[in-house]
Amino acid sequence: MALNNSPSDRVLKICDHGFKLSEIEVACRKTRVESGGESAVLVINMKPTPGAKRSRTAKPFALNDAQQLALIELPEVALRHKVAPLQPDDGNPAQRERVRLENKYRDVFELRLDWRRLVTYVPNKDLPVYNWFKYKEGFSRELVVRLFREFGLVKRDIVFDPFVGSGTTLLAGKEFGLHGVGIDMLPISVFVAQTKLTDWEDLDLLWQSAQRLLTTPFRQPRSAFAADVRIINLAFAKETQRELLFFKEEIEAFESPVREFLLLGLLSILEDVSATSKDGQFLRLVQKSIPPVREALRSMLAKMIGDLLDLRLFGPMARARTFVRQGDAREMCLPKRYEGRVSAIITSPPYLNRYDYSRTYALELCLLTVKSHRDMVNIRHSLLRSHVESRQHQGKEIAMPALDEVLREVRSKPLNNERLPIMIQGYFEDMNLVIRNLAAYLKPGGRVALVVANAQFAGESVPTDLILCELAEHHGLTTESIRVTRYKGNSSQQMAIYGRRPVRETIVIWRKNA
Ligand SMILES: C[S@@+](CC[C@H](N)C(=O)[O-])C[C@H]1O[C@@H](n2cnc3c(N)ncnc32)[C@H](O)[C@@H]1O
Repeated sequence: MALNNSPSDRVLKICDHGFKLSEIEVACRKTRVESGGESAVLVINMKPTPGAKRSRTAKPFALNDAQQLALIELPEVALRHKVAPLQPDDGNPAQRERVRLENKYRDVFELRLDWRRLVTYVPNKDLPVYNWFKYKEGFSRELVVRLFREFGLVKRDIVFDPFVGSGTTLLAGKEFGLHGVGIDMLPISVFVAQTKLTDWEDLDLLWQSAQRLLTTPFRQPRSAFAADVRIINLAFAKETQRELLFFKEEIEAFESPVREFLLLGLLSILEDVSATSKDGQFLRLVQKSIPPVREALRSMLAKMIGDLLDLRLFGPMARARTFVRQGDAREMCLPKRYEGRVSAIITSPPYLNRYDYSRTYALELCLLTVKSHRDMVNIRHSLLRSHVESRQHQGKEIAMPALDEVLREVRSKPLNNERLPIMIQGYFEDMNLVIRNLAAYLKPGGRVALVVANAQFAGESVPTDLILCELAEHHGLTTESIRVTRYKGNSSQQMAIYGRRPVRETIVIWRKNA
């Protein structure tokens, strides 16, 4: 087993000497008490304590806030500054509606560039469980925890994430004893979030299952990848494809939830064992050295089991009910009992013209569910209309003066993609439905934190945050603040023509009117 130096890896090493995880855990706990709370590293080379009480499942205990936060060093919070946002040209009649919006919301803007990292996945990279699957579009646990505190959430409140992604909001909620509900349209997101949120009672069983899987000799697989999804043959050597399919077939023979645990391990190594890298909006082909599948899987599973051990030893998750299912945020797809019951929604929708998630996660989707190119296109078309390949719907058009202005101006310019206006209109029509649903699920006084980014097409700025704030008003939500967390550069293509015009990324905070 490839091991590094974290305490849990050292504990795993002892397993190689024939101890069971539950025995080691008991010994560990005893040592920590005797040594005044010293770390679990002390158990190296330790024998199971004779006569020690051996419970198969350690009794979970909830950490208090201070202990939870000790897991992460939170950066100092800078003072809040009121800020006048980058102004559109108010002498320009073609920007009148956007200027009106900027002025309308001027008083609720806050510059929070100190939250820059928090709206990214980066702080999660070193966090156990949070980092079981690299989800570059995710935000951080730190952001969610800060918002829980700000919103004054207490145990058993319900948090909802309609764009669940890798499950960050719900996982943080679970740590704090908050009930969580999440939906996502992308099967890989649903699978990842569900698996990360599982209660792993029996670490011995996980450990033995991983050992069994990793020591099963290779045989030719019976299944195949979708033959008409081009990226598979570009990403994986034939031998790698066979190994991946072999492991997937072996994993399918395990019982749930061990099966899902092992499968998540396999899905998590796909980028590493491929000739691709998830890079911005694309799955880029790269030249790199590729580890053997079995070795990559071995260290991933060791890491995952090690994380669970760490959590057991240093503070397990609180108990809370969570559920994640496949669902469309544009539809009222939660059970009726959630209507008017949700205390907080902390979420981030796909950004306008940013990622086509079905392309970014094409490899994982092919191993998980996609059997043909048609399946992939169906997934693509089921997602929020945030990218140019979205399908035009016969939806109800929304009348928004600022949006109409954007569309008029964009249509009057030479465009590098004629579908841009369709996408922009579709995005706001979709988000209008999403916000209507959020308002219906929230209880009076409940809050929404929505991480979004503005966009720019053919030199025309699209103030996504402000347009959404105005839509939210129509659904009974008041905008409490618009926090600017980052200014992002425009594309190099746009910069060459229109100069450097950063667009803002913001967190908008809404409260449901009582
Ligand atoms: C920015 S990501 C969310 C990341 C998440 N906050 C995290 O920390 O992992 C946006 C998510 O929206 C999902 N999505 C796209 N269209 C959707 C729809 N119509 N309904 C629900 N989810 C959708 C995508 O699959 C993606 O997982």
